[in-house]
Amino acid sequence: MNTPRLVVGVTGGSGIPYAQDLLETLHALDLAPHLVISRGAALVHVTEGKGTLEQLERYAHTLHNDQNLGASIASGSFKTLGMVIVPCSSSSLAKIALGLGDNLISRAAHVTLKERRPLVLVPREAPYPRPMLENMLRAHDAGATILPASPGFYHAPERVLDLLGFVTARILDQFGIESGKMKRWEG
Ligand SMILES: Cc1cc2nc3c(=O)[nH]c(=O)nc-3n(C[C@H](O)[C@H](O)[C@H](O)COP(=O)(O)O)c2cc1C
Repeated sequence: MNTPRLVVGVTGGSGIPYAQDLLETLHALDLAPHLVISRGAALVHVTEGKGTLEQLERYAHTLHNDQNLGASIASGSFKTLGMVIVPCSSSSLAKIALGLGDNLISRAAHVTLKERRPLVLVPREAPYPRPMLENMLRAHDAGATILPASPGFYHAPERVLDLLGFVTARILDQFGIESGKMKRWEG
């Protein structure tokens, strides 16, 4: 199993299947990430997850506890490819936008920004209230890529998996990883 040191944070927004699809895709590509799952995400997983949380955790090269601020990924000296937070709850987005780091996910995101590595945030909310819009702009201006869980339809999706795959492909594009999960538009 290769270790590209991609950091994956999963927070408690609705959209756990997006995280699941990303982790399954990485696994199929023989890539195992550093994984952190928030308490909120574990709660949402009860409602939205396929299988158990432990099955999701098995895709990790290293599984970190969200309360462990001493973890490797909390330091910029630990080199990573970057970080994706999928789904990214409004609460985690707010922390990242304001530079708060009181749990490992927000701290690792802060470190990713400070080291100018790719940070991809995948918010899933509808509609977006003003604080969330402002925080998305703040995070964008700080260097993050806001990649909402909004699949396109130009690839003629037939199954939910196709919609998940579209978002997974767009996430991995940000890290230069070809997922093979999306038919690219060629005009
Ligand atoms: C079933 C369920 C669905 C939720 N959906 C969302 C959501 O779509 N977006 C969001 O920002 N928060 C959502 N929440 C609330 C977050 O889980 C909560 O604010 C949590 O404290 C976020 O913390 P975290 O970012 O550390 O995971 C949901 C909670 C539950 C239990």
